[in-house]
Amino acid sequence: MTLTILGIESSCDDTAAAVVRDNEVLSSVVYGQTDLHADFGGVVPEIAARAHAEKLDHCIEEAMQNAGLTLGDLDGIAVTAGPGLIGGVLSGVMCAKGISAATGLPLIGVNHLAGHALTPRLTDQIPYPYLMLLVSGGHCQFLIVEAHDKYQRIGGTIDDAPGEAFDKTARILGLPQPGGPSVEQAAKSGDPKRFKMPRPLLNQPGCDMSFSGLKTAILRARDSVVAEKDGLTVQDQADLCAGFQAAVTDVLTEKTRRAMQLYLDLNPAKRSFAIAGGVAANGTIRDGLMQLCAELETDFVAPPLRLCTDNAAMIAYAGIEMMRAGHRDDLTLSARPRWPL
Ligand code: KG4
Ligand code: ZN
Repeated sequence: MTLTILGIESSCDDTAAAVVRDNEVLSSVVYGQTDLHADFGGVVPEIAARAHAEKLDHCIEEAMQNAGLTLGDLDGIAVTAGPGLIGGVLSGVMCAKGISAATGLPLIGVNHLAGHALTPRLTDQIPYPYLMLLVSGGHCQFLIVEAHDKYQRIGGTIDDAPGEAFDKTARILGLPQPGGPSVEQAAKSGDPKRFKMPRPLLNQPGCDMSFSGLKTAILRARDSVVAEKDGLTVQDQADLCAGFQAAVTDVLTEKTRRAMQLYLDLNPAKRSFAIAGGVAANGTIRDGLMQLCAELETDFVAPPLRLCTDNAAMIAYAGIEMMRAGHRDDLTLSARPRWPL
C-alpha cells in the first residue's frame, strides 16, 4: 500500500518539512538558521526554538504546496520527537500534534538518529542489515542497522563529533563557519605532513574514537607559528587544515575498517556500508572510505548531501517504515531531548 507522509524536523538549527510517498521525495524544504547563530560561536537553544516556532507553519505550507498536495491527501504526520534541543523538538511536536488533532491524521514520533540511519533505504533501498557511519556536527557513531527499530551501536566518539572539530579548527584559524567546507577548501593547497597531528585512540582496540585532542593540537600548533612569525600566513592555515583533515580521515577510515570487520563477521553474506551526516560531504574522507569499501568488496552508499544533512524527508521516510510496521503515537507523544537509538 502506498503511504504519503508529511515529515517535520526541528531538533537543532534547521527548520524542515517534507512530503515523501514511499521512496519518492515529493518535496523537501529546509530553513537554516546559520545567520542567526553566527555571532555566538554555536547554536543558541533559545534563539533556535523561537526561530522554529516562527518558521514551522511557513515551512510546512511550502512543503505541501511544492508537493502539490493538501492535508487530506496525507496518510500520516511524522515528527522528530528527539534527541535534540528541547525547545526546538517541542515546537515540532506541538505543531504536529495540532495538525493531527485537527485532521485526525495518525501521528508518529521519530528518533532523529533513526531518520539519518534509514536514509540509505529511502535513496537506495538497501536491504537490512547494513553498517552505517553517522558523522555530523553533533553525532559520530557506527550502527549496524538491522530493522527500522533495531540498531546495534558498535562504537562512536567518546567526546567531540568530527563536524564540531572541523568547526572549532576553523574558528581557531580564523576561517568562516561552518568550518567543514572552509577547512576542506583551505586544505586543498596545504601540506598534510608539515604539522604532526595526533590520531587519538587509533591504536586502541574497538571502534571508539576521540576528536577533542585534535583541536588542542591545532591550537598549540597555531600558537607556536604565531609566536615565531607574529601571525599566520595563508600557507600556514592551509598546512594546518591539511594536517587536521588527514588525521580525521585516518581515524575514521581505520575505525571503519574495524567496524566493517565486526559487521562482516556477524553478517558474512551482506556487504553494504552507508554514510550520513554533514561531514560525509568531505571529499578526502569520502575517498578514504570509498577505497576501503572497494578493498573489502563492500557496497558504498552515500545519499545525496541534501539528504545526508538535517532534513525532514528522512523523518517522513522513517515514519513510513514505522507506520508500515503498525506503529502509531497519540497526543501524549512527548519530546525527548535524550533518546539513544
Ligand atoms: O549533519 P549536519 O548538517 O548537522 C548536524 O550536525 O546535525 O552536519 C553539520 C556539520 C558541521 O559541523 C559542518 O562543519 C560539517 O558537518 N561539514 C563538513 C563539511 N560540510 C559540512 N565537515 C567536513 N567537510 C565538509 N565538506
Ligand atoms: Zn542530524
